[in-house]
Amino acid sequence: MSNLVYILNGPNLNLLGTREPETYGALTLADIERRCRETAVGLGLAVEFRQKNGEGELVEDIHDAIAARAGGIVINPAAYTHTSVAVHDALRAFDGIVIEVHLSNVHAREAFRHKSLVSPVADGVIAGLGADGYELALRAMAWRLIEHMDV
Ligand code: DQA
Repeated sequence: MSNLVYILNGPNLNLLGTREPETYGALTLADIERRCRETAVGLGLAVEFRQKNGEGELVEDIHDAIAARAGGIVINPAAYTHTSVAVHDALRAFDGIVIEVHLSNVHAREAFRHKSLVSPVADGVIAGLGADGYELALRAMAWRLIEHMDV
């Protein structure tokens, strides 16, 4: 299986750093991308990092991961987590490993954030650990991709 991992981010995550820092932390998305790239190098993973505000665009990013035969997708679908059948269906069409990440602990917040349409098609979920969640997802991804590698 490929060592390529798509890291996909949904709406409003481009505003990280200034958007509700008490909930989402002080790091910008560019900071998170830098940390992911550093972690990925150490793990021998190749990374494609993207953010989209539109639901259709996020779905197209998942299609790109399918077309690229990526080994895994780390996805923070943001608000689409709770609403998007389209994101659910696109992930269902992906063959590799899917890890859902949320900066905040969605279960400790409003009731509408407790339901995820993505979790049923994810191999694992990380929530509430801030930007560390992305790094932990990459570590878990590397372990699983190595397990699946024909060596
Ligand atoms: C989020 C949680 C979602 O409920 C919210 O809509 C977001 C960010 C998180 O990373 O904690 O935009 O996915």
